[in-house]
Parts: sequence; structure tokens; C-alpha cells
Amino acid sequence: MTEKINKILLAYSGGLDTSVSIKWLQEKYEAEIITYTADLGQQDLDKKTLKEKALTTGASQVIIEDLKKEFITDHIFPALQAGAVYEGKYPLATALARPLIAERMAKYAEELGADAVAHGCTGKGNDQVRFEASFNALNPGLKVIAPLRDWGFTTRQDEIDYAREHDIPVQATKDSPYSIDENLWGISVECGQLEDPWQEPPADAYQWTREVNSTPEQPAYLTLSFQEGIPVSINGEALNPTELITRLNKIGSTYGVGRIDMVENRLVGIKSREIYEAPAATILLAAHQDLSSLVLDRESLHFKESIKSKYSELVYYGLWFSPLRVALQNFFTTLQSKITGQVKIKLFQGQCQIVGRKSQLNSLYDEGLAPYDENDTFDHSSAAGFIKLWSLPLRVAASCEKKQNVEDSKLSKTFNII
Ligand code: ARG
Repeated sequence: MTEKINKILLAYSGGLDTSVSIKWLQEKYEAEIITYTADLGQQDLDKKTLKEKALTTGASQVIIEDLKKEFITDHIFPALQAGAVYEGKYPLATALARPLIAERMAKYAEELGADAVAHGCTGKGNDQVRFEASFNALNPGLKVIAPLRDWGFTTRQDEIDYAREHDIPVQATKDSPYSIDENLWGISVECGQLEDPWQEPPADAYQWTREVNSTPEQPAYLTLSFQEGIPVSINGEALNPTELITRLNKIGSTYGVGRIDMVENRLVGIKSREIYEAPAATILLAAHQDLSSLVLDRESLHFKESIKSKYSELVYYGLWFSPLRVALQNFFTTLQSKITGQVKIKLFQGQCQIVGRKSQLNSLYDEGLAPYDENDTFDHSSAAGFIKLWSLPLRVAASCEKKQNVEDSKLSKTFNII
């Protein structure tokens, strides 16, 4: 017997899966369905149409929330400051958004008296883990339902047939062969022809960025200012975080910047081929990293490098609300007070190059120490003593080895061993 559930809060995108989920949950649990949608900067999000669609499909109430600001401040900037990229490539747009959506849903579920929350993730991906791990961390008693793991449709056609039978509006236009997730930090594209890792992504798989051969003939130069680890202006124009990221996505897309094509290790144990477009993320990560090189002492910088892949894994694995992610975050936060300055960026033919950096207050680049000319203030004579002590352990080990070799050869002579 199905347990009695009266009210379900469903994460809703308006696509086929979550639309069918409304009806399927309603039928299976005879429950009231409330939909939840977060506006995280999806470019084609039409709130009015989405609301109508959810209501026509059977939702009793529709919540659509603009979370762009929170997403940037509480998720994107912390990840930027950590230099987070999974497996050295993916800036984690989708992975960063899930815990925020889950957090808001957990809050609404409580306020609305919902007995359960539901999401439209498949049983094969990372997103189910991220949603559910976040729900579990925030409200361990909250029941979570994943219709796509339970409903038993094996083909897309089964789902479409179900939708037609239940008067669920199915887009008349040909369905995109791709599974797409989009927010301000990037767009993630999978499925269709991308499933063959040997095949070059078809032109239509890229949604935001221009192909290199249709980018402008001249490079674009940008000066990006950071204030304590936060990007605050482009070419001297102060912008709020949403404007700044939106603008970088736009100009980056025009120059073909931020295309990523990779085979990645999913948390559930399979490898998958995905493409991402993340122009703003690519530019900001490069710029933040470069400015860090100028203002951070060597050991802090190297230590940051050594833990950033662990941090990225935790985010990818859905462990945003874990003690270790928070602890590592605190470490990155302590470095940010130094990250104030400007970075000069050149965008050209798909590339984002950092071509200059400066920090009036925090630069550790010493004009007297660096040059090889008559202004040089570096004390060359102290280098000899430094090297002597630096390599002392090597000398001790080498003389020890030499002594052993001498002993060995004496022994072999004594016993006539060859
Ligand atoms: N593989 C990426 C991740 O795990 C993207 C997932 C995107 N989801 C989607 N429905 N396309 O973060």
C-alpha cells in the first residue's frame, strides 16, 4: 500500500519529465502538487508561460523565485574563490545550483506543510544525489520522491504517450536531442550525438557561444577589478554581480570563449561525455587565479592549489552542506582580503588570455627584486648560503650513499662476490 502523502512540493522546469511528474505524482499519491522553480538566470525562462503550464497540468500552486543574487553571492563567488573546477575542466554550474534549490525547497516544504519533496532527476545522474544529499543535510526527516526512478517508462515515447493521454501540453516542435541545464555560471549539455565521445559535438549542441570562425577579427580587451575576491567592475564601470556575470557571458560568447568538451566521472560510477559553455566562469576563474598569483604568498597559493580539487569534488558529489566543504571554504575566505586589484584580459578566437595584472595595495611583486639590471636590489651573495642550507639534506644523503657503496665494494672484495 502506498503511504498517505497529501502535499508534494515538486522541483519543476516545465520540460516533459517534470510536467509528466505532476500528473504521475497526483495519480499515484492522490496528493496536491505544488511546483517550485528557481530563476538562476536561465536565458529563456518565461515565468508567465511556465506558471500557466504548471497550473494547466494540475499544480495547485506555483512558486517561481528569483534566486540569481543568492546564487551568485552564496554559491558562485565562494566557488570562484576556491578556483573550483571538477576534473580540471568543469566549473560546476549545475552542481552549484542544486544545493540552493534544495535549500529553498526544504524551507517552503516546511512552511507549506508538504509531506514530501520531489525532483525530476534520472536514476543515473549526479543531480539526484545532489538534491537528496542536500535535503537530507537540511531536513533529515523530509521524504523525497524521485518519479523518474519509479515510474517505469522506458522510452521517451512512453512518456509522450502518457502526456498525451493526460492532456499534458507537449511541445509541438521537435524535441531537442540534448538534455540541458542552464544557469548564470554556465550551461550543461548531454545526450544525443554527444554520447559518442569520439564524435565532434554537432554545431547545434552549443547554445551560447560562437564557433571560433565566426568570432570577431579583432581581440577584445577587458579590465576586470576585484575587491577582496569579488569582481566588481568591467573597464571601470561598477556592475552588480548579476550584471557583471551576464555581461561577461555575453562578450565571452561572442568571442567563442568557455567551450568545454569532456569525458567526466559521474558520482554513480559511470563515465559520461558532456559539453559545457561557461564564458563568464572561464574569464573570472582565470582572472581570480592570476590576481591571486600576484598578491598571495607562495605557500598560501600552493596550499590553495593542493586542496581545490578536493573542494571541487565535494561540490560535484553533492556535499555542499558537509563540514569539510564548509571548513575548506573558510580557508579560501581567509585569503580573499588580499585579492584586490585589476586584471587585463584579452579575448580572441575562443581564447581568454590574462595579459596584465596589478594591485596597488597588495602586490607582492617587488620591482626592485625582480629585474636583471642595475636597479636590482636582490642580494646575490646570500643565494650561495641559502643554497648550501637548502641542499644540506641532499648532501648528507649523498655522502651516506657513497659510504655505503664503499663498504659494499670492500665486502664484495673480502668474499670475492662478483
Ligand atoms: N554532468 C553535469 C553535472 O553533473 C551536468 C548535469 C546536467 N544535467 C542535465 N540535466 N543536463 O553537474
